[in-house]
Amino acid sequence: MITLSEFVYAKQHEFSSATGELSALLSSIATAARFINREITKAGLSDILGFNESSNVQGEAQTKLDVLANERVKKALLSRGEVAGIASEEDDDVVIFEGGRAETSKYVVLIDPLDGSSNIDVNVSVGTIFSIYRRVTPIGQPISKIDFLQPGNKQVAAGYVLYGSSTILVYTTGQGVHAFTYEPALGMFCLSNESMKFPTKGSTYSINEGNYLKFPSGVKQYMKYCQEIDTATSRPYNSRYIGSLVADFHRNLLKGGIFMYPNTASYPQGKLRLLYECNPIAFIAEQAGAKATDGFQSVLTIVPTSLHERSPFFVGNDHMVETLMDFLSLPT
Ligand code: AHG
Ligand code: MN
Ligand code: MN
Ligand code: MN
Repeated sequence: MITLSEFVYAKQHEFSSATGELSALLSSIATAARFINREITKAGLSDILGFNESSNVQGEAQTKLDVLANERVKKALLSRGEVAGIASEEDDDVVIFEGGRAETSKYVVLIDPLDGSSNIDVNVSVGTIFSIYRRVTPIGQPISKIDFLQPGNKQVAAGYVLYGSSTILVYTTGQGVHAFTYEPALGMFCLSNESMKFPTKGSTYSINEGNYLKFPSGVKQYMKYCQEIDTATSRPYNSRYIGSLVADFHRNLLKGGIFMYPNTASYPQGKLRLLYECNPIAFIAEQAGAKATDGFQSVLTIVPTSLHERSPFFVGNDHMVETLMDFLSLPT
């Protein structure tokens, strides 16, 4: 049995410039995940289900667990001083850590503390998504928003924790995608899948079909393509939609498939957040041999201009994303 810390420590020696900071940072994220996992598993007993009567800067109602998970992550990262600052879906602005080792830390973290929070009250899988960048402001000067507004292809590491039928942490540092299952009795994440790859063929599509009438015509046509009967291409594809990006993506990573959250009449820029959701999932997808696009370009090449910006998001097997893009490029 190989634990997350052992694995990360062993991998760290593959980088000649490694100082151990990134390994320590990943271990702090795992600590936060352990706390969040504990809160989630006993949520119904401790009056932390439901809404918090507050909303975040994007106008979404916050659940009690959104707020709690956000606090847990910040505490875990702040206490050890491995990061210079953090940006979160649940905070209006970036939080810059002051004092101690934080001021000389190389890294900033962007986080979706609780993904799929509308599923929490009905006992359906939720997640935590994280994305790590190297600061661009030289050490010695205070960091600012520009350290966080970097394109996804500058990510040093990204990952997610899925609180599902088991709790699993998946991460990449650009050297493949690895998964660790939580062993609650031992309180440790243990290696369960190394160098994960999407299966070569996918046959599941994942989209909120209730919004069909609000979708761009290329997406509507691709959905019809998924539903057509054609044995040579294993169609019709299965339709599966959990409503937690992490859970929908993780299923597709293991079984093959495409996840889509297009721009809609209600969300003209798409719903998902580029920095906290699309970029980290896109980095993992590309490392696992899949593709992630906003419909025009690779998600990882988009240069962000604001912290909470949104993007249309299509991620999954190459052949599925490429066919979708053919439909998107047709004249309307
Ligand atoms: P969050 O809970 O972090 O705000 O994210 C919710 C996101 C994502 O997890 C999911 O894929 C999507 O919202 C679901 O949206 P719809 O309910 O509009 O389908
Ligand atoms: Mn939210
Ligand atoms: Mn989310
Ligand atoms: Mn969230």
